[in-house]
Amino acid sequence: MKIVRTVHEMHAFSKRMRNAAKIVSLVPTMGFLHEGHLSLMREAEKRSDVLVVSIFVNPIQFGPGEDYEAYPRNFDRDKEMVERAGGDCIYAPSVAEMYPEGYQTRVQVAQVTQNLCGLTRPTHFDGVTTVVAKLFNAVTPHVAVFGEKDFQQLRVIKQMVQDLNMDIDVVGMPIVREADGLAMSSRNRYLSPEERKAALSLSQSLFEAREMVLSGEKNTAVLENHVRGKIESTGMGRIDYVKVCDTLTLQDCSRIEDEAVMALAVYFGKARLIDNIVLRTG
Ligand code: PAJ
Repeated sequence: MKIVRTVHEMHAFSKRMRNAAKIVSLVPTMGFLHEGHLSLMREAEKRSDVLVVSIFVNPIQFGPGEDYEAYPRNFDRDKEMVERAGGDCIYAPSVAEMYPEGYQTRVQVAQVTQNLCGLTRPTHFDGVTTVVAKLFNAVTPHVAVFGEKDFQQLRVIKQMVQDLNMDIDVVGMPIVREADGLAMSSRNRYLSPEERKAALSLSQSLFEAREMVLSGEKNTAVLENHVRGKIESTGMGRIDYVKVCDTLTLQDCSRIEDEAVMALAVYFGKARLIDNIVLRTG
């Protein structure tokens, strides 16, 4: 498996693959890989001849006081996992390679970035779209695979690809969960045993909301209150938001007509966890 550290080398590798009529896929990650990331790699492999996994903890998508420095990193372990998963190349540039002195460009999606995580992390998605655009330009994949765990991120990337006419097939994959329901995340390692237990209220309350919708509940305020109540009853989580939104516009919705996404972000200690579920009436 090839380890690539520079844009120049990445371009050369990708050009060679494309010239040999290979389909190239990309799974962008910030490393500290888990089963959620592996599920994306498996899908990417099915859809391509050459799988590139990028590992880059992107400083510009972290706000001041967020966990950029503390974000877990373990390149050797990640490398082994990508190799075992059948990856062909890891693209792991340095911060200086991505943002050299004099760097000054941002890619900004205007609307679907505003609600949900955009409310309390106002510069986050500009950082995500900028780095993903740069990764797309370096790797030039035919296909890129993202997780629905970051539902808003996936929506934002799809918008960017459409608006900027990028010739890349963006594929979304379902959330991979621990056996007890907690959505897998590199940030779960921040949780103490008590927080880990309390954090189960996120997925459990979302599953209950899904049942409530199937039983006929259409009022989103009732659903949001139920989820908030269940999380608050643990006495531990600090809720950032719990919202039901249109799956396309990500605007708040007060009634569920056909389908909607229920998304939440909750702090447990220093871990900010997100989760979501698509609610359907039938
Ligand atoms: P990261 O948090 O490492 O996630 C990389 C990819 O894995 C994302 O597409 C994310 O949605 C997906 N993923 C994470 N947990 C998952 C789970 N439990 N089930 C399914 N997919 C999961 O998201 C980022 O990195 C960054 O913002 C990035 C896109 C790499 C840009 O820096």
